[in-house]
Parts: sequence; C-alpha cells; structure tokens
Amino acid sequence: TIGDKDIQLGEGDVKGLRVKVSGRIHRIRAQKQATFITLVDGYGHLQCVLLAGPLTKTYEALVFAQGTALTLYGEMRKVPAGQDAPDGRELHVDYYKVVGRAPTDEDSITNRVSQQQLPWESVMLDQRHFVIRGDNASMVLKVRSFVEFAFMTQYRKRKFTKVSPPALVQTQVEGGSTLFELPYYDEKAYLTQSSQLYLETAIQSMGNVYCIEKSFRAEKSLTRRHLAEYTHVEAELDFIEFPDLLAHMEDLICGVIDMCMEDQEIAAMIKLLNPEFKVPSRPFKRMRYSDAIDWLNAQSPPILNEEGNPHTFGDDIAEAAERQMTDIINLPIFLTHFPAEIKAFYMQKDPNDRRTTESVDCLMPGVGEIVGGSMRMDNFDELMEAYEKEGISPKDYYWYTDARKYGTSPHGGYGLGLERFLAWLCNQHSVRTCCLYPRFMGRCKP
Ligand code: 4AD
Ligand code: MG
Repeated sequence: TIGDKDIQLGEGDVKGLRVKVSGRIHRIRAQKQATFITLVDGYGHLQCVLLAGPLTKTYEALVFAQGTALTLYGEMRKVPAGQDAPDGRELHVDYYKVVGRAPTDEDSITNRVSQQQLPWESVMLDQRHFVIRGDNASMVLKVRSFVEFAFMTQYRKRKFTKVSPPALVQTQVEGGSTLFELPYYDEKAYLTQSSQLYLETAIQSMGNVYCIEKSFRAEKSLTRRHLAEYTHVEAELDFIEFPDLLAHMEDLICGVIDMCMEDQEIAAMIKLLNPEFKVPSRPFKRMRYSDAIDWLNAQSPPILNEEGNPHTFGDDIAEAAERQMTDIINLPIFLTHFPAEIKAFYMQKDPNDRRTTESVDCLMPGVGEIVGGSMRMDNFDELMEAYEKEGISPKDYYWYTDARKYGTSPHGGYGLGLERFLAWLCNQHSVRTCCLYPRFMGRCKP
C-alpha cells in the first residue's frame, strides 16, 4: 500500500488517486451486487462500495456492524448527480482491514440506543457516548467548539485579556441556595457559581477581561435550560456606563454569529440543525422590566405569575412566562432595569429610580434568558449595606470590597451561558444536548 494517499473524509476531490481512509461504520447496507458502507471519521462522511465478491464474502465482512473501525483502500470515483452518494463521490474499495470490531448482536449500538427502551431520554443520556457518534450530536458539539473560538476571537479583537479564575472558592455570587459545598482540607469550600467577583478584581490590573470557565449550580429543579455544571462566558468592563454595556453585549453576540455565518462548514451545520435561523437584526429590542410586566398583563389571556395572578412590580418573571414572551415577540430582547429586590446583591441601583438596578438579561426566542449582566455597585458604603441585606459576612469578601476602597470605578459585566446560547443557535430543545456529557440533578454519568 505504499504510495496510497491518506485522507480524512472531509477532504475534497481526490478523484483518480488510490486512497486510504480510516473511520467507523455509520451505516451499512448489504445488497445483492454490493455492500454500501457510510464511513465517518469526525471530519466527514464517505460512501464506500464493496462490490459483491471475495471482499464481501469473508466472515468478517458478513458481520460488519455499526461502529466497527475500518481502514479501507480503493479508488475515489465521482458519482453522477441524482445517484445515492451525498457528496458526489464514493470509494470503490479493493482492500480493507478491520481495526476494531463492534458487536452485532443484542449488544450492538443500535440496540443500546434503541427506541424500544423507555424512558427514552434517560436511555439517550446513559448511552451518550454512542449518541455523540451521531450526526446531530456531533454537529452541535462542533458548532460549540467554533463558538468558543469565535468568542475568544471577538474578545481578542476588542483587546480583552483572558483570565482563569479559580473554580474552588469560599464566596457566593448568585445566592447561597445553589452552592455545591465540599470539604477543603480543614475548611469548607464551594464550586464557583460565577467568576464575576474575580473578574472585577482583575480589571484594575489588565483592563477589560473575560473568562470561559465552568460554573456550578446545585439547581434543584429539572428544566430544559438548567445544568449543574455549565460553561460560562463572562466579561467585565471598566470605566463604562450602562448603555456602553448593552452596546458591547450586542456587538459581541453579533460578532460571534457573523463569524459562524462566515465559516462555510459551521454555517452549513447551523442550517441543517436550525433551518429557520435568522441572524438577529440590530439594535436588539430593549424593554424595561416594568414595561415587560405591563406587556404580560396586556396579553389576552394575560400571562400570569407563578401564583396564577397578574404580574405586579417586584414579581420574578418566571421561566415559563419569560419564554412565552420571547416566543411571541420572536426577537432577541434586552430586558433591563429589574427591581433590586429580585436581583443579586452586587447590582448598581439606577440613579433615576433606586427601586431598580442597572441590570440586563438578554432573552432569545425558544430559550429565554441566555445572558445576565449589570453595572456593579462601586460605592463602598452601599456595598457594605448590600452584604448585610444578603446576610453575607464582609470578612470573606475583603478582596472584593477592596476594589471599592482602592480606586473604585464605574464598571459592569455579564455572564452568558454557552449551552443556552447553543440551544438557541442550534435549535436544541434542551441545554442537555449542547454539552458533551450533561450534568444536572440526578445525573453525574457517564
Ligand atoms: O444570571 P446569572 O446567574 O448571572 C451570573 O452568574 C452573573 N454573576 C454573571 C456575570 O455577570 N458575570 O447567570 C448568567 C447566565 C444566565 O443568563 C444563563 O445563561 C447561564 O448563565 N446560567 C445557566 N446555564 C445553565 N444552567 C444553569 N443552571 C445556569 N444558571 C445560569
Ligand atoms: Mg440570571
């Protein structure tokens, strides 16, 4: 086989050359005249033809099963349009090697992910290591990889520095009820809920900063947009005002989407996963919390709060109501100026209405909130009051407080849930299919 060209399946036209390809059987169809194998290798698909004869009559070939790893040799041929070869080419195999077998019997991949077994979702999650071999799951994960790269590129373009805050912490950011606590030598520690506080301490040193790290939330409800471990894209901007924060968020999100659309391969995957996807038009719709309350009540029938009553100022807009609103409006929305009562302790009050905060959630159709952000309280005394109200002991937060004591500045930032962003972009029903191996209440495997 010396002289054969090794190719990856995503590679273009190598017609006329004898090539060597390695991959796994995705689908197999044995017919009278030939056996057709769709081979996959993580870069693409290739239709391979083994003409009936010595090649297909061996015992090995008769028991080829989905998942079998093979190395195939043969000539790449063009297939006329209209014939059954998705990318217009197929490999005419003249020699093969079995690299790794896969079971054919009741232990076959097909059986392991069989639709006969119920409940369906937990089968798919238990067998996630097989599910990710499938087209849909692997496309979502490839888009995810690109999206992370796009965020990094967009931040770099804007001269943000990437930092890596710790995952093991001794402070809360988003309320004590969702902290994962663990023993830490002779002390207590938590898995971080958000790197925000650390980012706030880094802007004095490096200017605008960001991170892409895991955040952990001991969420006690099973919803299609909550994970126990998720990837959090967070940024913090120094010397800004609230409108600057909104402008930056919009610009960054659009920059990432544009990069996805400009990459042929990624754009094609998004098109397959989400045929209806439209690049959001700018500027994003802006809506104040108080107007959203009025909007919910003005629907017929009105969209009610969690107690089944019309919304009043101070109510949380719960997940269901939020999603109904986003689905009806069917556009990205910056929902702003939430009441201080229902928001995190660190949020800056709106100087024009101190009941409310300079806060924003970015809502996307189909998912609802994908980003949460705000201006940060930058006044020492106000922060001390906020600690007290939240029941936080200031001594654990001395390093965070010090920013208000040593050269404070107006600053703000946000956190974007990568899986929620992907659920929106790739039209996934749940964030669970937007990560390699999802973690949520009741699931910590595989
Ligand atoms: O709104 P959250 O809780 O805000 C923060 O954590 C801020 N400290 C971030 C910051 O300003 N740096 O979370 C931010 C985003 C949400 O909008 C959502 O997209 C995502 O993180 N998120 C989750 N994603 C999946 N599973 C969960 N349990 C999530 N909780 C939040
Ligand atoms: Mg939030």
